[in-house]
Amino acid sequence: MTDTYAVIGNPVAHSKSPEIHAAFARATSQDVTYNRIFCEIGAFSETVRAFQAAGGKGLNITLPFKHEAFEFATRHSARARQAGAVNVLAFKATGVEGDNTDGAGLTRDITVNLGHALRGQRILLLGAGGASFGVVGPLLEEAPLALVIVNRTVSKAEVLVQRFAAARGRCEFSASAYGALAGRQFDVVINATSAGLSGEMPALPAELFAPGALAYDMVYGKTTPFMQYAQARGAAVVDGLGMLVEQAAESFVIWRGVRPATAPVMAALRGTR
Ligand code: ATR
Repeated sequence: MTDTYAVIGNPVAHSKSPEIHAAFARATSQDVTYNRIFCEIGAFSETVRAFQAAGGKGLNITLPFKHEAFEFATRHSARARQAGAVNVLAFKATGVEGDNTDGAGLTRDITVNLGHALRGQRILLLGAGGASFGVVGPLLEEAPLALVIVNRTVSKAEVLVQRFAAARGRCEFSASAYGALAGRQFDVVINATSAGLSGEMPALPAELFAPGALAYDMVYGKTTPFMQYAQARGAAVVDGLGMLVEQAAESFVIWRGVRPATAPVMAALRGTR
């Protein structure tokens, strides 16, 4: 019998996950279907229970339900516990397993696909909302020289730094205000703010990007003001499509025990194949 999976969110119509998982399933000869589920705010648990009762095997969770998904899971991976958020649920006979593959998707896209090492690098993370929570742990695991979290509301960046303090290793790990970045340079700048969605960008100093720097925007499918700004200052600019495909591949591994190749799927989504 075909195993059923889905992505659940609000909104969810724009999600590329069904396309990505269909391509993974074809390439690995796995007999699965993957749908979209639109969920009303406040109806997460009942919607997930109905999916599970109908025989569903697993879910990807997108905004704004990653914290509710964490609460729903009966067992959590270390990285889900660290993030306090879940983007993958697997329904097993023994319970509901919650994992978080967002950070692994980001670091794999940067280090493997883009060939840009993070070890020993100075990383700047813009934003301290949900998107940042999922990636701080995996970024620290790469042993960067520095990881600075900058946010308009500095107290939220400080909360993140405190939460992950035990995982800092030898990294210079700190919170910052935008105004305090003047004079500093970074090798990798990651935009995890939602500013680009409304056509805005954080207030960045002009000399932020070190020579050869990578500017990574977690948003995909559009060119944000951050991407334009970084490009104009000589940084190599990428959007978050690779992260999306890599977090999906990690989910596929969790559910099916097989790692699909991601390069052909990324090329197809970018229209370059
Ligand atoms: P989510 O949890 O869904 O990511 P969020 O908690 O509202 O959403 O976080 C959005 C992030 O984008 C925050 O870091 C926010 O900064 P504040 O915490 O100071 O609000 C950041 N953000 C949104 N619009 C921004 C803008 N125009 N300039 C700078 N940062 C912005």
